Amino acid sequence: MNSFRAVITGTGVSLPKRILTNRELESMVDTDDEWIKTRTGIEERRLVEPDENVSDMAAEAGVLALKEAGIEVSDLHLIVLATSSPDMIMPSAACMTQAKLGATCPAFDVMAACSGFVFGLSVGAQYIESGSFKNVLVIGSDALTRHLDWEDRRTCVLFGDGAGAVVLTRSNGEHGVLASYLASDGRGADLLKIPAGGSASPGSEKTLARRDHCIKMNGHEVFKFAVRAIPDAVEKALTGAGLEPKDIDYLIPHQANRRIIDAAAERLDIDLTKVVVNIERYGNTSTASIPIALDELNREGRLREGDVLVFVGFGAGLTWGANVVRWGKGVAG
Ligand code: UT7
Repeated sequence: MNSFRAVITGTGVSLPKRILTNRELESMVDTDDEWIKTRTGIEERRLVEPDENVSDMAAEAGVLALKEAGIEVSDLHLIVLATSSPDMIMPSAACMTQAKLGATCPAFDVMAACSGFVFGLSVGAQYIESGSFKNVLVIGSDALTRHLDWEDRRTCVLFGDGAGAVVLTRSNGEHGVLASYLASDGRGADLLKIPAGGSASPGSEKTLARRDHCIKMNGHEVFKFAVRAIPDAVEKALTGAGLEPKDIDYLIPHQANRRIIDAAAERLDIDLTKVVVNIERYGNTSTASIPIALDELNREGRLREGDVLVFVGFGAGLTWGANVVRWGKGVAG
């Protein structure tokens, strides 16, 4: 019987050049730097340029991940793009990314909001573990600032844009994705949503007047959910891998709020030195936040062969989940 593993052989990111600081936001909406910093940990975030879209960021991140993996575009067997802000509702942003990369493999979007990368990584890994594919590009790319109501201070200060990507390659060794845990609870769908633009409420003058094409969030309820969801997903994914919280070398959580991350780390009894946080520079980049943080660790040379990494996401849907990964390139399978 095959016992293939999906190892991460390359990472990459795309971060828009335009930086929007808390100070600048003070002149746009009734907020202040101190509130944003103390309540969220965010100091600045990136904004896509007018001619830059989710598929552009996804392709840029993908090129860098492929370069590190040493894999040609022609050797890719699948592209999984996690996003909840695709360039258009149809076709998928994955297809647009495929064309920009010059790839010919199948490509599809996964929509699980801020948990999208965790879901996408699990999907990509499954195709490798089953023996179907050898090289899969998994990307998280979001431009949620395009869906912000810049007059709603409860949401517009939180989000930023960006993309992160990983190449998964088939291996026979002990490294790679060891386990994933995915969860959804659609009863919480109203807590975080973009109400218009879908088939239930297509764009119209009315939806525009109601700003229904913008993100609406019950921040308080999402906060409470997130603090429970992180330990739940981390513990279940670790159990699937036969590991415990004390075995974690780096916990890479979705970057939505510094206070959420601290509270969840405390519940898991994980030392904060093992918890990766970069929310101060990018805000909440949704599905991109985990691969962006992973790429930073990788580029800074902080990852050692055999390190146990846990990625944990949570967000609209509601959705939440985690992946356990043993870092290292393994033996080509
Ligand atoms: O990635 C998807 C998942 N999303 C999340 O995980 C977000 C989860 N939620 C949160 O992170 C937090 O709930 C928020 C950061 C959104 C809000 O923080 P909070 O500590 O829950 O604040 P709050 O909503 O309870 O508001 C406290 C006060 C209110 O004023 P009053 O009613 O007490 O006078 C708000 O109007 O802070 C006010 N406020 C602000 N003040 C200055 C809300 N937003 C702002 C702002 N600037 N930007």
